[in-house]
Parts: sequence; structure tokens; C-alpha cells
Amino acid sequence: MNILAIESSCDETAAAIVQDGIKVLSSTIATSTELHEKTGGVVPEVAARKQLESIVPVIDDCLLKSNLTPSEIDAIAVTVGPGLIGSLLVGVESAKALAVAWNKPLIPVNHLVGHIYANFINTDPLPTFPAIALVVSGGHTDLVLLHGHNNLEYLGGTLDDAAGEAFDKTARLLNIKAYLGGPALSKKAAECVQNTLIGKLPRPKIHDNDFDFSFSGLKSAVRRMVEEEDNPIETVACEFENAVVDVLVKKTIKAVKKYNVSCLLLGGGVAANTQLRTRMKNSMDELNLPLFIPPLSLCGDNAIYIASTAYFNYNPVDISTIKANPSLTILD
Ligand code: KG4
Ligand code: ZN
Repeated sequence: MNILAIESSCDETAAAIVQDGIKVLSSTIATSTELHEKTGGVVPEVAARKQLESIVPVIDDCLLKSNLTPSEIDAIAVTVGPGLIGSLLVGVESAKALAVAWNKPLIPVNHLVGHIYANFINTDPLPTFPAIALVVSGGHTDLVLLHGHNNLEYLGGTLDDAAGEAFDKTARLLNIKAYLGGPALSKKAAECVQNTLIGKLPRPKIHDNDFDFSFSGLKSAVRRMVEEEDNPIETVACEFENAVVDVLVKKTIKAVKKYNVSCLLLGGGVAANTQLRTRMKNSMDELNLPLFIPPLSLCGDNAIYIASTAYFNYNPVDISTIKANPSLTILD
């Protein structure tokens, strides 16, 4: 089955055609990052306008590269949320138009669930259930138990800032100038030869019995540390990264053990973080259980995993009921 998917939740306009949920036939991504670099963050209206400009050329290019004709596409999939409403609407309405024009089923996809399915692309053997998934992105941090496709149980998530958001805000605090603070902060942290501040920042909720996270206090602690002491930026960045990764690894592994699952899946932009990848891998190796982490190219937003999600959770719905929903949660 060939699914053409469209993703436009934020500042990437993406289309992809994926066969049977795992084989990428073509993928095209346009991004408006350059525009947002100038303003130091995404301006929703600017992102939406750019989505409008890009959507038709992106779908066109994706179809052309696949060498398929519309008659060889079996279904259309689209991200319906969460994200920026203006951006989402562009993708959702374009997908509806395409589904009507080509007379194809349309499958609505949750962007957060999509991040998990980045682990199914070109993967052999595929992840098995039950599994724990940790989704760490710019706007969300969710820990879920997957009983099967279309069968998610929410275990916990952030009570305030998402992991990526904490990286981005802390990067700004440390005067690390980059549109995406996460990778820039991580690069700075890698320059630290020895973390002389080890343990000086809190590891919020690390010993709590729940599976929730909280990162806003950590950011405030960094602010105080910077204001009150004179430490090299790379050392503060390193200690901050250690603190976030300590909490993510400890609580995720606790869930893996408690639910006796067969594997762990990471997803979302922060899954590109080298320290998180390495330490999660070491911890899963100790348990002798497989860890699935998408390649870096599939950690950020794209339409490939939207197609994969649609295939494994195949659920076409009446086109008139499909609506963009900026505040969708991972369970919706
Ligand atoms: O999933 P994503 O591309 O977009 C959303 O759906 O939010 O995630 C973007 C987030 C940003 O906060 C970015 O700073 C963070 O992922 N990120 C990283 C790294 N690469 C991206 N955070 C830490 N380390 C990285 N290497
Ligand atoms: Zn995302």
C-alpha cells in the first residue's frame, strides 16, 4: 500500500510517499527556518504564509520523484495536530482537496504518535509490543505504554516546559545564539572537558513515583547559577544537559522495568541528542532489551513517519469530520 502523507504542523512543509509503512519511495521537505532565525523564534503567521507558498510545490516534487501516478497512491495521510493552527490548516485542507480530487481515503494522524513511528521506517525486525515510547520534542514530553498499534496508554508527561523547550530557553539564557537552542547548547556542552558543576543543578522529580517530568525549575536554577556565579558557559551547558538526560533516562527505564516491555522507542527532535541516545542505549543494553532510535534525519519533523503511522493505524474517516486541532494530546 502506497500512502502519500503531508506534514505541516510548524515550520516544515513536508510530503512523503511510503510503501507498506516502512519503505520510503520519496520525501520532500521545505523549511522556513531561515526566516525564523532572523526573529529568534517561529512567528506563527510567517510560518503559515510560508506553508501556503510551499505546499503545492512540495507535494508536486514528492510525487514526481516517486515516479508514481496518482492512480498508484492508495491513501492520503495528514497531520491534524498538535501544532500551529495556521500551519496545520494548510496541510489539512490541502490533503482534503487531494483526497476529494483523487477519490482516495484520508487518514488523520497525530503528530506526536507520528514521532514514535519514525522507528518503523526501514526497520527489520520491527519493534514489538508491549513497548514504552518516550516522545521528546519542542512542545511535548510524553511517556507512553504501547499495547499495540492504536492502543496507547499514557503514563506521564511534562507538567510545565517540554524537554526541547527547556533546551531552547536555557540556550537563550546562556546567550547561545541559535534558532534551535537544543543542538547548539548540546554542541557547547560537548566542549566541556570536565563537569566541575556536577550535581549542582536539580534533577526535578527524578525520585518521584510517577512518570511525570518538570523542567521549568531547572531552567530557573540555571538562571540563578548564571547570575550568582561565574562559570564557563560550556560547563553550565554540560551540567544542564546532564540533568535533563539523568531525569529522562531514569524515569523511562523505570517504566521499562515496571511494565516488563519488550523494547523502548525514542522519538521527537530531542531524540537527536547524542548524550540521550548514548545513555539510553547503555541502560537498555544492561537490561538486554532493544532500543529503537530514529536516524537523525527522522528525529525532526517530516512526512515519512506520518505515512508510516497511517499505515500501521489505518483508519480512514469521513473527510468532512477531519479538522486541524492545534492542542491535540498524544491520546486524542
Ligand atoms: O520534534 P521537533 O523537531 O519539533 C516539534 O515537534 O516540536 O523538536 C524540536 C525540538 C527543539 O526544541 C530543539 O531544540 C530540540 O528538538 N532538539 C534538540 C536537539 N536537536 C533538536 N535538543 C537537544 N539536543 C539536540 N541535539
Ligand atoms: Zn515534531
